[in-house]
Amino acid sequence: MTKKFHIWTSGCQMNVHDSEKIAGIFSEIGYNEAGNSNDADVIVLNTCSIREKAEHKFYSELGRLKKAKKHNPKLKIAVAGCIAKQKGEKLFKRFPYVDFVFGPDNIESVQGWISDNGPRTSVIGEDPDYHTKLLPVKRAGQVRAWVSIMYGCDNFCAYCVVPYTRGREKSRAGHEIYKEVQSLAEQGFKEITLLGQNVNSYGKNLSKSIDFPDLLYKLHEINGIQRIRFVTSHPRDFSEKLIKSIKDLPTICEHIHLPVQSASDNILNLMNRGYTYKEYKKKIDMLRDAVPDIAVTTDIITGFPGETDADFQCTINALTDIGFDGIYAFKYSKRPDTKALDLPDHVDDKVKSDRLAVILKLQESITYRKNRALEGKKMEILVEGVSETASDKLTGRTRTNKIVNFYGDVSDVGKPVNIKILEAKQHSLFGEKI
Ligand code: 5AD
Ligand code: SF4
Repeated sequence: MTKKFHIWTSGCQMNVHDSEKIAGIFSEIGYNEAGNSNDADVIVLNTCSIREKAEHKFYSELGRLKKAKKHNPKLKIAVAGCIAKQKGEKLFKRFPYVDFVFGPDNIESVQGWISDNGPRTSVIGEDPDYHTKLLPVKRAGQVRAWVSIMYGCDNFCAYCVVPYTRGREKSRAGHEIYKEVQSLAEQGFKEITLLGQNVNSYGKNLSKSIDFPDLLYKLHEINGIQRIRFVTSHPRDFSEKLIKSIKDLPTICEHIHLPVQSASDNILNLMNRGYTYKEYKKKIDMLRDAVPDIAVTTDIITGFPGETDADFQCTINALTDIGFDGIYAFKYSKRPDTKALDLPDHVDDKVKSDRLAVILKLQESITYRKNRALEGKKMEILVEGVSETASDKLTGRTRTNKIVNFYGDVSDVGKPVNIKILEAKQHSLFGEKI
């Protein structure tokens, strides 16, 4: 009987895409995807360690699998991703029912582990050539695809674990990325999202001189790809040349995710972000001047060590000042190895939570106001499939990355469709085909 695998994924888009690569390897060695974890011969937990909460989620998932293993001792359990990289062998001690541990650079080791019939081992070393490797990918969708353009991060923001889990920054060669996108276009994909921890510094390690805007101009030439997105941008490296490329190239979508983290210069400095709020705001103004209806989203951390009420007030003011289309906000969470651990004046958990609640509430009204302003407007959406929340409707996104649900025909999937927005909701829009 054909064996089956199941992958549980937590964390960012890199992790979601890494899971597609892990699935690609299982498919190549003849495994099928299990409908759920109860039905699987091998379960992989692809983990995230960005915040304590993500780590707890993993431990509770792993706890659940203890019973499954007791029930079926032949079940193989592997731990992948950022927690795997950080904890390595230690995971075996605490969870003796784990069989294999592999880091973000070691996805290809799954193949050897399976063919050797799963001996208990861990592979977590940084692979200096990982960015040159071409792994098979089993993609989750048929319309939108992720494409890694770089791995790792050299920024060392004081709160962030990523440089320790994903290693130093390395860009993939431009021609390899081009080939992958061309092949996606041939397979019928319409939208790609370029992935990297800091896409704006793409190309630094490459011998052939190419930067991120150059890459965009190249990829724009590929026939069949209607939309190009990218995450994540770092404000310090967000250049005028990039703004010009967004303005020039019709395939680049009018949405930028530009994490500000805080709007207090004191906190930005302690975070080691390399910009002031004024510099950040100037870049947003330039971007909006060049591309008037561009949507801007951001990340915010509340209660970073040393954050006073006055610092926090700066961030509140920035929310109104800039008017983001959406935000992801988090309470500061202590992470192993990071510089922020040693900073004085850690903020009380209750204060962090209260500040988070204030931020989220304020943004809710701003997002809703922005969505309301779209009522009556005509927008092009790329249809992705049947809505997960309402199975009688189709769903897609505007170029500005807003989710739109509408009544349509499944033959619309994968096509751009013009929609009139009828009703704004908090997290999505409802419209009709025109
Ligand atoms: N605590 C809280 N939020 C964090 N982020 C990264 N590290 C931490 C941390 N230690 C947030 C940042 C980043 C997003 C992906 O996660 O806002 O942009
Ligand atoms: Fe989580 Fe960061 Fe690792 Fe992504 S890179 S999985 S966000 S810790």
